[in-house]
This record gives sequence, C-alpha cells and structure tokens, in this order.
Amino acid sequence: MESDLIGKLQREAYKVIYGHGPVTGQEITVTHGIPGGWKRCSELEAVGMVYAAVEKNCSVTGQLAIGWDVTDRLPPATQEEKQDRIQRCLDPLRRKVAKCQKCPHLVSTRRQTVFGEGDPRAELAFVGEAPGEDEDRQGRPFVGRAGKLLTQVINRLGFYRRQVYICNVLKCRPDAASGNRKPTRAEMLECLPYLKAQLGQVRPKVIVILGGTALEAMLEPEESISRLRGEVLDWQGTPAIPTWHPAYVLRNPTPQVRREFWSDCLEAVRLLGYVVRKDDALWLPRVNA
Ligand code: URA
Repeated sequence: MESDLIGKLQREAYKVIYGHGPVTGQEITVTHGIPGGWKRCSELEAVGMVYAAVEKNCSVTGQLAIGWDVTDRLPPATQEEKQDRIQRCLDPLRRKVAKCQKCPHLVSTRRQTVFGEGDPRAELAFVGEAPGEDEDRQGRPFVGRAGKLLTQVINRLGFYRRQVYICNVLKCRPDAASGNRKPTRAEMLECLPYLKAQLGQVRPKVIVILGGTALEAMLEPEESISRLRGEVLDWQGTPAIPTWHPAYVLRNPTPQVRREFWSDCLEAVRLLGYVVRKDDALWLPRVNA
C-alpha cells in the first residue's frame, strides 16, 4: 500500500477515535499487510480504531494489518441463540422492570426504566450505579458524558458496545431536585434481584464494576473502592473487577486516575484471555474538558 494512502488511513482513523473533524460517512479501508505507520499501532489499538469507526457509521472493509479479521472477536453464539435468550429470558425481565413500583418516589420521577443493553451472550459486562438524566431520557445506560468515556474505553479494548453488556444496579434514575444523587441503600437492595437475574441470564465471564456505589451494592465490601479497584473479586461466582466510575474519572482526570481506570479495564480483557501488549498498557483514555 502506498504511503500517502497509509497516511490518509491513519488520519481518518485518528479523526474517528480522537474526535477531530467530521467523521460520519467516511470510509476506512484496513487491509492486510500494510507497511509503515499502521504497524506501529498495537493489535488492540487497531481493532479499537476499527470498532470505533464502525460505531460512528464509518464503513470498514478488509482485514487488519496484523491479520485479524474483525469478526474474530465476535462471541461464538449464533444470532438465533442470542435472539432466543433475549426473547425467552431478558425481554420478560425487562417488561417486569418497566412495570416495577417498588420505590414509589422513583416511579413518580422517572421518565422510564433503564434496563441495560448489549450482547445477551457477552463475555464482558460493565455495571454502573444508576441512570442519570440522559439515560432516563433515552432509556439506555451510559449515554451521557460518562457513557462516552466508557464507550471510548470499550472500543479501545477491541469491542463494539453491542458486543459487551452494559447495565446499572438501579434501573430508575435517583432523581433529586438538585440533579443526580447517589442511590440509597434501600433503593439498591430493592433493585439488586433484577441485576442478579439479568446477569444470571447473560452469564458474562468477567464483570467490571464501575464505581464505589455499585461495588457497595454488589459486594458490600469492608474496604473502599480506592483500596479494592483493580482486584479480581467474586460476584455470584463470576470474576468481578471494580474500578473508578467514568464520571469520577471525568471529575478527576489526572493521568493516575485515567491510567488506573484503563488498566483495570485491561485487566478484565486479560482475564478473558486476550493478549495485552506494552503499548496497549501505555494508552490513556482521552477526557475532554
Ligand atoms: N452513571 C451510571 O452509573 N450509569 C449510567 O447509566 C450513566 C451514568
């Protein structure tokens, strides 16, 4: 491949992943055996870029330089199996959650419940604390600023959002006149059976617990998130790694916090059996001011 084409490819990919310039409708062609620049990106970086490009509606064709077909990373379940799991197990639970009246004060302020989304057979699940305003409006988890950061990290790990599972402990927005508030212990206890049932159906191989509040609700640990983050804990028989909540990372975007957040997420894919290289470990999530 000619070097000006490689340069174009890199510029387009960086536009997509780092957010400079218009991206929609761009086409990125990633072909086998690209010499030069692309060899400098790690496997994980290349895959992450391609997935990010696809999520932004850029079409991607061909194979990665390092010889991975993008589809290599798709979980082995067939579409029929996934549909079946959604229709038989997750949809009835979603409907039950949508009608839930257990916390009347939340019922009276929510626009809708936010059940969760993603691959019903995902290997990797992310669990946050509760929907915020954007999520309450759209009915989807992690779609606001914290969600953008989470999506960036998911892509960089080499997944589409739709290939992982994303949900919260609480399915309703804990509304407060002054804005979002932390869910109460009573609210989390009411909602926890839904999370157990939900992840019991998805059966991820690894769970990333986002933030101290979700950690408290799920594991009632004696130590704080700052002591436990990055440790491999056990949640109902599934390895679970607590890390900073993306909103915390946005509020405290120091290199240390961003590095810890990223390295905890990398640990999750390491547990899944993916090879993590040195330059993957050196990457830092981008946090816009
Ligand atoms: N924070 C959360 O914990 N969950 C969301 O879905 C969004 C923000």
